[in-house]
Amino acid sequence: MTDNSILLIIGGGIAAYKSLELIRELARRGVKSRAILTKAGTEFVTPLSVSSLTGEKCYTDLFDLTDEAEMGHIELSRSADLLVVAPATAGLMAKAANGLANDLASTTLLATDKPVLYAPAMNVRMWEHAATQRNLATLKSDGALFVGPDEGDMACGEFGPGRMAEAIDIADAVEAYFAKASNGPLTGKRIVLTAGPTHEPLDPVRYIANRSSGKQGYAIAAALRNLGADVVLITGPTNITPPKGVELIRVQTAREMMVATEKALPADCAICCAAVADYRPATETDHKIKKERGGLTNIQVTENPDILKTISQMKAGRPPLVVGFAAETDDVLCYADVKRKRKGCDWIVANDVSPGAHSAMGGDRNSVILITEKGDEAWPEMPKQEVAKRLAERISQQLAKPKLVSAAE
Ligand code: CTP
Repeated sequence: MTDNSILLIIGGGIAAYKSLELIRELARRGVKSRAILTKAGTEFVTPLSVSSLTGEKCYTDLFDLTDEAEMGHIELSRSADLLVVAPATAGLMAKAANGLANDLASTTLLATDKPVLYAPAMNVRMWEHAATQRNLATLKSDGALFVGPDEGDMACGEFGPGRMAEAIDIADAVEAYFAKASNGPLTGKRIVLTAGPTHEPLDPVRYIANRSSGKQGYAIAAALRNLGADVVLITGPTNITPPKGVELIRVQTAREMMVATEKALPADCAICCAAVADYRPATETDHKIKKERGGLTNIQVTENPDILKTISQMKAGRPPLVVGFAAETDDVLCYADVKRKRKGCDWIVANDVSPGAHSAMGGDRNSVILITEKGDEAWPEMPKQEVAKRLAERISQQLAKPKLVSAAE
């Protein structure tokens, strides 16, 4: 993504430090920031740290006539593609909801003709107060966008919703906004993607699972979204935050994943990135299996549906492009290609998950081989985000080809 810029309004809250990280995270993603720091905000971060990171002047209420001549507040409010308020304190939200303009931040919010994304940050009681909830509803009905707040331990020692979303999640929401606003090569294409592990219950407290983190699948969902695709992400249980701007369906078991995937079709492309459990316990009891009765010494299993194979071999409504993954420990290329043919998918992304290889499972990097009907390509080891970007670009090139051409290949 290039050439997009935001105007960041940093309110006065302890979460203001995360806004510094946000500026850096956005810069990494090619989004330029210019910032306004409220008077209360200057109690938490300094204009110097903000301007060092944005590489631009930081505007504050000390904004004087010289500044006004340089860039008037009206121009400032319209200079960016998106306004981001982070931290959006209860006070800032109240002012914006009521059109109050008595300082640079609130004046800018009233004068802008650009969309505004708020990342609320406040004490849980302030967040839950009827007045804040009223302001939230008003801002939403005025078209404002929101990310967070998260739930968790707060700087004030309390627990609950009110903690500002992490910088990475706000950056994700900004990227999702720009992806929707621009016409990417995948605009109008629907892509269904499975990710993460599945949990196959044995009894109310135990399940069979695997080491999949969901990182690679989530990164692919974000990369496809960034190219403008409508992404349906069907995910098993993970500990990571799913990307914003995609339709998220959470499931636990392989059977639930199968049902959700079939329901999400038709699509232009299906990507099965999930590490689906091949087997599930033949019986799931509604009581805890007791050791004394020897219940866990012999677990009977039954085969789960194969989602990739089912979609690949659909008689009607098969997505024009079906992509599978193959995590192998030996003879990666050979086993993966056999798997592609056996399952009937178009492409397979193979990776080596043997103990000697770098840890793709759970790790942040991946080294894959893309196997298509035309042959195989080994990609060098790179971050999972880069693998995702490259794969998304390849998918967009493939979907752009006229159908007759791809059928003749
Ligand atoms: N897959 C699936 N449903 C299953 C099993 C696997 O959709 N029940 C998909 C995975 O999402 C992946 C591909 O099939 O895209 C390959 O998964 P893998 O576990 O490597 O293949 P298996 O068929 O389980 O083969 P094996 O375990 O024997 O290597």
